[in-house]
Amino acid sequence: MIETSDADLIALARQARQRAYAPYSNFAVGAALLGRSGRVFTACNVENAAYPLCTCAERAAVVKAVSEGEQEFAAIAVVTSTGATPCGACRQILREFGGPEGNLRVIVADLEGHSRTFTIAELLPAGFTPEQLGDSRP
Ligand code: THU
Repeated sequence: MIETSDADLIALARQARQRAYAPYSNFAVGAALLGRSGRVFTACNVENAAYPLCTCAERAAVVKAVSEGEQEFAAIAVVTSTGATPCGACRQILREFGGPEGNLRVIVADLEGHSRTFTIAELLPAGFTPEQLGDSRP
């Protein structure tokens, strides 16, 4: 398996950010999601003239990966001009696939190379997880 370092993941997210479609906010976001298989799935935010339909980069990366057969992830890098952290909705979506302990690493970086790393459990403390469905789970 090809090893992908955090620096590699940040570089891939930065490239994906170049493809952002963000004519309304002018806030470009790139993400690179590392699957446990070693595959990396990149994505950017995709906005819409109907503003609430904007899709975040992190969510796009998860949808892309799961629809290509990957469901377990080790890390995601998110690159923005300000080193922003994922929005609440994306935290919940990442938590779903972040493992029972929420160990998925979330690396946020800006364009100057400053980065911070969290686990998804840190970003979404006491969050709702698949395990909490209990007996209702299929
Ligand atoms: N955005 C993301 O892609 N990820 C986040 O976690 C926060 C926000 C996008 C949505 C919208 O296209 C733009 O950034 C401004 O909110």
